[in-house]
Amino acid sequence: MDFKRIVLGVTGGVAAYKAAELARLLVKEDIDVQVVLSEAARHFVGAATFQAITGHPVFSDLWDERVDNGMAHIDLSRGADAILVAPASADFLAKLVQGAASDLLSTMCLARDCPLLVAPAMNRQMWEASATQRNITQLAADGVAVLGPDSGEQACGEVGFGRMLEPESLLEALEAHFQPKLFEGLKVVVTAGPTYEAIDAVRGLTNASSGKMGYAVARAAIEAGASVTLISGRVFLEPPRGARILRVGSAQEMLTAVETVVNGADIFISVAAVADYYVLNPSEQKIKKDAHILTLELAPNPDILAGISSRPKPPFCVGFAAESENIEEYAEIKRRRKHLPLIVANDVKESVGSDVVQLILLDAAGRHVLEKADKRTQARKLVAHIATLYNARHE
Ligand code: C5P
Repeated sequence: MDFKRIVLGVTGGVAAYKAAELARLLVKEDIDVQVVLSEAARHFVGAATFQAITGHPVFSDLWDERVDNGMAHIDLSRGADAILVAPASADFLAKLVQGAASDLLSTMCLARDCPLLVAPAMNRQMWEASATQRNITQLAADGVAVLGPDSGEQACGEVGFGRMLEPESLLEALEAHFQPKLFEGLKVVVTAGPTYEAIDAVRGLTNASSGKMGYAVARAAIEAGASVTLISGRVFLEPPRGARILRVGSAQEMLTAVETVVNGADIFISVAAVADYYVLNPSEQKIKKDAHILTLELAPNPDILAGISSRPKPPFCVGFAAESENIEEYAEIKRRRKHLPLIVANDVKESVGSDVVQLILLDAAGRHVLEKADKRTQARKLVAHIATLYNARHE
């Protein structure tokens, strides 16, 4: 993690119980969590819960005598990497906008010397109220990061915007906050996962790609500030928050999707394991079993990446090469044949479906080894490498 210490502010709202889960997730990631409750939050959750989860005493009173110098509002946030207020009630957001210092949490936010993130949670009508919307605009202008809210079912029974982001999403958003914004303002298209070439109504040719690497790359690009379109084959993964997702089956569908979004893209990262062949005459009905040999006629698929990279003004194109032997040699041949500034070589026996992988980045300057690590870490390093090459090109 790129942060070590978080002050978790909790204000009054039903979602306060989810803050306990968030505290648990943070502690699991070895983050030191100091909880500060507003007076209203104490009507929803008890300090003992947070104390047990974080291992630290919980504060809510400006005049708490447990802080030696009587300066809880200063001491508690010093040394913190960020203050995250989750849930942030409509009332608390209004306090922040006013610069109110009427209780420990609001005073601490005013006296902070670290980033402030808020996760609003309230009834949809309260969220949509012009006063709240004004406050949100002002907070964003003041440099406060506003996470969510989400839309969905609410504790009050209504449905709409105002649900606090789920704890896992808040953890993701926190992590993203600390990533360098190397892709700020850039449009990135990522393909991921396998393609599926139909044989008949229920059967098809596909491969073992899990989509994990492509999804990690899309997420890392979002964290770096890009606006990302993720074109995904059939996988069992949650798409990263904030990605525009286009789901496809066959290589031809993937090609059509890429062609509709790639104009205007700055960077195209082709992580998908695209089938080399499609079935020439797939049957519309399920093929019945009989005693004869069944022959499938296969025809080559278009090379999506090569098609894009050979355009007169291509985006910055990055390919992946999963090989089982002569990894670097074969990857470099592909890099040259497909006119790519960068290709990412990996060992198919180790990488497909796995959570950790070694990557070798091959570009015009040579090779850069990213020693074995989880795919999220590798994706962030890859984004940093792409940013360096991209910026050198656009200087
Ligand atoms: O399949 P191959 O090893 O040639 O894949 C290398 C790169 O080309 C990958 O980035 C893959 O996504 C891309 N590719 C493609 N269309 C194909 C085959 C591969 O875009 N038909």
